[in-house]
Amino acid sequence: MPEIRNVGVIGAGTMGNGIAQVFAASGRDVVLVDLEQSFLDRGVASMTKSVRKMAEKGGKDPAAAESELKSKIRATTDIEALSSVDLAVEAIVESRDAKLDLF
Ligand SMILES: NC(=O)c1ccc[n+]([C@@H]2O[C@H](COP(=O)([O-])OP(=O)(O)OC[C@H]3O[C@@H](n4cnc5c(N)ncnc54)[C@H](O)[C@@H]3O)[C@@H](O)[C@H]2O)c1
Repeated sequence: MPEIRNVGVIGAGTMGNGIAQVFAASGRDVVLVDLEQSFLDRGVASMTKSVRKMAEKGGKDPAAAESELKSKIRATTDIEALSSVDLAVEAIVESRDAKLDLF
């Protein structure tokens, strides 16, 4: 299987921001897509809180952990940004119609 370096995550909600965070922590570059900037901001804020907390617990520098996270995440409302990813993960709202529209 080819190496996965760039990952797209669609939906920055509960699942999406957690998935994005795990991929970023594994060293992948992540494109995080949602419908509105405010949803992306909320997702990034959630990830930031989480990595800072984990760093504190592990005796690491929270600011460095936040900076590392943010260097790996590109948050955008432009779905075309997914055109160059190796893997895309769908994590949008639980709606059949919304998922079919997206695909
Ligand atoms: N939350 C859980 O515990 C959980 C567990 C298992 C599975 N899931 C599944 O994971 C998926 C996501 O759930 P969630 O809890 O993260 O939902 P959520 O409501 O927290 O987040 C969904 C996000 O998707 C975004 N979105 C909607 N349509 C979009 C589109 N066309 N393009 C881009 N972004 C779009 C919304 O703006 C929102 O930010 C659902 O299918 C859900 O059933 C959730």
